[in-house]
Amino acid sequence: MKRYQLGKSDLWLTEIGLGCWIMGKSGWTNVRDEESIDAIHTAIELGINWLDTAEGYGEGHSEEIIGQALQDHNREELIIATKVSPQHLSREKLPEALAGSLRRLRTDYIDLYQVHWPNPYYEYAKDHPEVPLEETMETLLTEQQKGNIRHIGVSNFTVEQMSRALAVGRFDSLQPPYSLFFRHIEKSIVPFCIENDIGIVAYSPLAQGLLTGKFNSDNRPGPEDNRSRSKLFQSPTFEAALEAVTTVREIGKRYGRTSAQTAIRWVVQQPGITAAIVGGRNPQQVRENVGATGWELSAEDIEALSTVGDKVMSTLVDDDLRMWVS
Ligand SMILES: NC(=O)c1ccc[n+]([C@@H]2O[C@H](COP(=O)([O-])OP(=O)(O)OC[C@H]3O[C@@H](n4cnc5c(N)ncnc54)[C@H](OP(=O)(O)O)[C@@H]3O)[C@@H](O)[C@H]2O)c1
Repeated sequence: MKRYQLGKSDLWLTEIGLGCWIMGKSGWTNVRDEESIDAIHTAIELGINWLDTAEGYGEGHSEEIIGQALQDHNREELIIATKVSPQHLSREKLPEALAGSLRRLRTDYIDLYQVHWPNPYYEYAKDHPEVPLEETMETLLTEQQKGNIRHIGVSNFTVEQMSRALAVGRFDSLQPPYSLFFRHIEKSIVPFCIENDIGIVAYSPLAQGLLTGKFNSDNRPGPEDNRSRSKLFQSPTFEAALEAVTTVREIGKRYGRTSAQTAIRWVVQQPGITAAIVGGRNPQQVRENVGATGWELSAEDIEALSTVGDKVMSTLVDDDLRMWVS
């Protein structure tokens, strides 16, 4: 599997990474730890060299599962990316949160430590005092100097927030939502990252599973599934997405690929994208998703897919990066 340099860092990421949010269980349904561990092992066997998680996924459960799954693996061969939650961004709280992640992941360093959401942007941080972004960056740089983290990343940041962070010190990646159906970053965020050598690791590249084609009006995420609050699963976006998937499937067929593989391929071939973070609950899903690598979409088909995506995008009324309706 091809590897790409993340920003100016010495991390070379395979073009898809395994997203481990689902392994935290909270906000998902019918997740089994044994299956999660099998999914991680399958990803590694098939050549994926990095995993993305967060302290916030199941209050650390996702990190624990990764720690368990990797105990017999050579740590140096794998890149672990995790995130600090928006309520832990102060100089007092961040080191404690980092220590928790290190303990759960059973490691003594994090390869990529990302700010999950800027504070106080996200709902979990509403009751916490606002921490200046500069304080968070200074704290991250101190942890980097101590060797606890190798590289710093941010997630869900605007151009303005990235500029402020860069004025304090170097970070190497942005983790934004990006798929055929959710493309707000194209206008100003992607050009800013390209100009500043910031790698982009795109989350929800399957539009949270919509692009697999398995959802329909009789099969929608239930109330306990985080996706029931996703803008992508609300009318009329949901219906537009169902229609669009049909074309994605048809285009993919010409390459002998599924709609999921085609959709992931579209993401990794976009300008400025270092890699896609694809979630997977079991070995079958991981195996299918790895089939997005090792081939290329033609320029014409990329264009055709973008046009299909435009139709879905036109149903989203605002250009807020947050995918969830509060
Ligand atoms: N930084 C952030 O704020 C942020 C936010 C969201 C996600 N992320 C990261 O990005 C990763 C991926 O995002 P995501 O999980 O939201 O979206 P995604 O990758 O677009 O969709 C993943 C989900 O789709 C389903 N799926 C995946 N492959 C499939 C296949 N081949 N066939 C059928 N179903 C399949 C699985 O759920 P079901 O089986 O339940 O359908 C899976 O959990 C997360 O794990 C996390 O690491 C970060």
